[in-house]
Amino acid sequence: MRQKIVAGNWKMNNDLSQTEALLTKLKKATKTSDSEVVVAPSFTNLWHAFEALRLSDIEVAAQNMHYAEKGAFTGEVSAKMLRSIGVGTVILGHSERRAYFNETDALLAKKVDAALNENMRVIFCFGEELKDRQAGNQENIVASQIKNALFHLKSSQWKHIILAYEPVWAIGTGETASPEQAQDMHAFIRSLLRDNYSDALADNTSILYGGSVKPDNAKEIFSKPDVDGGLIGGASLNAKDFFAIVNAF
Ligand code: PGA
Repeated sequence: MRQKIVAGNWKMNNDLSQTEALLTKLKKATKTSDSEVVVAPSFTNLWHAFEALRLSDIEVAAQNMHYAEKGAFTGEVSAKMLRSIGVGTVILGHSERRAYFNETDALLAKKVDAALNENMRVIFCFGEELKDRQAGNQENIVASQIKNALFHLKSSQWKHIILAYEPVWAIGTGETASPEQAQDMHAFIRSLLRDNYSDALADNTSILYGGSVKPDNAKEIFSKPDVDGGLIGGASLNAKDFFAIVNAF
């Protein structure tokens, strides 16, 4: 059985006091679903969040990392550094990293390897742009993003990979993929895993949906058989909304 996961990507939001306030609320929230809960604060608040959530069952993830172990990469953070403060999960390949920081599939493959070398879990994001969907090309785009960054991995490494399908046109726009569009793509992704690896690997890999998931649409999206959870941006900044989504399973 694959794990259900709801992860909050705080992006470049929340200073220290806002982080403290949100963490306090998250710690008090009641979880009624069996999904794992993950939050991804900014680097400056990661250590604090990890310490604050140590006794809770909420996991802390980083939003990015560099592929090198250490060295002259001003402004960057390595997997080893994340590991050293206890953080065991990293989001890689978010469309904002791809679009604004020129992250390519080849670079992401290196980052994935670096994270796995440190025994970290990766939430790997990918998704087509509006023009791709309008051209009916979404499956080709998604297949190539996954193939280029992940298909060099051995089957045994996939237990550390969580996929997150995030159509770019649905991120922060208020426009969600319909539950059917999400299901169709997730089923396609699972078939790719089946064809390139095995039934067991395809059945055991969690595939999250991301893009304007809110309390009022989460239930319907999560009810689809191949949707194993969500990567939540805007709505994860509000504890009540985030837990309404967590509990939508
Ligand atoms: P959104 O962001 O929920 O604000 O659309 C999702 C994401 O970028 O992961």
